[in-house]
Amino acid sequence: MILIDGKKTSSEIKNEIATRVAEIKSEGGKTPHLAAVLVGNDGASQTYVGAKVKACEEVGFKSTLVRLEETVSEAELLQVVEDINNNPDIDGLIVQLPLPKHISVDKVTNKIRPEKDVDGFTPANVGRMTLNWPAYVAATPYGIVELLKRYNIETSGKHCVVIGRSHIVGSPMSILMARNGYPGNATVTLTHSRTKNLSEITKTADILIVAIGKPEFVTGDMVKPGAVVIDVGIHRIEDSSKKSGFRLIGDVKFDEVAPLASAITPVPGGVGPMTIAALLYNTLQSAEKKVF
Ligand code: GUN
Repeated sequence: MILIDGKKTSSEIKNEIATRVAEIKSEGGKTPHLAAVLVGNDGASQTYVGAKVKACEEVGFKSTLVRLEETVSEAELLQVVEDINNNPDIDGLIVQLPLPKHISVDKVTNKIRPEKDVDGFTPANVGRMTLNWPAYVAATPYGIVELLKRYNIETSGKHCVVIGRSHIVGSPMSILMARNGYPGNATVTLTHSRTKNLSEITKTADILIVAIGKPEFVTGDMVKPGAVVIDVGIHRIEDSSKKSGFRLIGDVKFDEVAPLASAITPVPGGVGPMTIAALLYNTLQSAEKKVF
């Protein structure tokens, strides 16, 4: 069984990005600059945004964090996005999700200029990705694509089963695995909460990508021996035996599934670190005007 090491791979990508940033700077070019907008005080969102800002520093990017109160109006947030759209120094803009209920995610997402949409959430980038045009691909699916590539995992003609149809992970993942190219050319089944006989389907998967957001949902009896298993979930559960008082688990029951799998991503240290590397990569692409 191959343990797919997202932490190590993400470090390698960050080193590659840092090398390119140093080159750009030595040639007198502009330092890539990512802006992150964080609304409210959600603990997980603060952790994620903090990690993104720290990663920017590590690779030599500039970053700007705009923090807004939970009570900010939709109009005010839209104006903040518009100001960043119009700021020529900023290459990439992300608005951390989830947003408070009184704000429309669709409206805010659609306000982001596609050229700065390094999260790949705008209709323009989702459409471009679907058409196999140059596009910003959402960080988590892009991170998974990069792991499959760097571990030389064969995808052509394989049956890929994706669990979860979110706009952020499951849906784009299914498109990327089905499209013409590598990784891709797979026969894809996209499953979700209304799917019947789920385990009958997952047992036929050569590649199983799990993004359902339920702790240890996928058990050993749902997995075909030799499958490649990608676990997108991350859940914090109390564990008094740990110094921190908690431990992290995924959507896959690792101890049961790992012995069956030919390759598997752990939690933590699998997909998670790759999302940040992918976001940095998209921001570098934007600074170098490689997509638009
Ligand atoms: N919330 C959970 N994942 C993401 C992500 O990739 N980007 C943003 N902006 N918010 C998120």
